[in-house]
Amino acid sequence: MILKDQIHSDQLPEHIAIIMDGNGRWAKQRGKVRVFGHEKGARSVKEVTESCAELGVKYLTLYAFSTENWKRPKLEVQTLMKLLISSLRKEIESLKENDISLTAIGNLSALPKKVHEELLHVMEETKSNSRMTLTLALSYGSREEIISAFKEISTKVKNNIISPEKIDESIINEHLYTRNLPDVDLLIRTSGEQRISNFLLWQIAYAELYFTEVLWPDFGKENLYEAIVNYQNRERRFGQTSEQLT
Ligand code: IPE
Ligand code: IPE
Ligand code: MG
Repeated sequence: MILKDQIHSDQLPEHIAIIMDGNGRWAKQRGKVRVFGHEKGARSVKEVTESCAELGVKYLTLYAFSTENWKRPKLEVQTLMKLLISSLRKEIESLKENDISLTAIGNLSALPKKVHEELLHVMEETKSNSRMTLTLALSYGSREEIISAFKEISTKVKNNIISPEKIDESIINEHLYTRNLPDVDLLIRTSGEQRISNFLLWQIAYAELYFTEVLWPDFGKENLYEAIVNYQNRERRFGQTSEQLT
């Protein structure tokens, strides 16, 4: 509780993104199969989501399945997809109770039909909720997202809808999957890995990066508070000097 009291509610990161990593290692350490870690990881998703909403964070984006994760063993992919369906079904009520709207980014049409349908259902049911937007990155790859933006923009240029001189940051933003989200303020990655793994490359241009050794299934609200306190002790200069900021 002490950590929570150290959080300044007027300086919260508006948008937190998390690379939820380490489920497999968590399970292996316990002599279990990898999917056991994914199941436990779903509980962390719930705890972190509800804690963010309670604190007043407006946007939380979770990396749940990357375009590269399709290369995993078929059984693991299938189990992850099943887990996704059951979690969506299980959590819809608490999303509603907590006034959280669910959205998704990624190549959603690549998901199994059942997952896609369940996702659209929860998105529809929660779309007018306004306390926090929870975005799941599913079959998401930042390069694929950028490629699709390039394609859309170049088609518009070709059809004289956009003139090349008009292309700026906001036009690019509008063609990304994240068009309705602000830039990321705080990016957290669990499990000790210090890489981005094709997540939100454009959107983290000025994010503060926070790496922790904690494995995702062990990551709970205290770990979240710790990350936010750490974030609030940094000076975000955006290219300016320290003196200019004060
Ligand atoms: C993150 O945990 C979950 C997904 C990528 C779906 P991992 O499954 O990558 O766990 P480790 O990194 O192998 O421990
Ligand atoms: C990144 O984790 C993707 C998700 C958390 C969904 P990975 O475990 O797939 O990343 P790498 O392969 O270690 O970079
Ligand atoms: Mg991993």
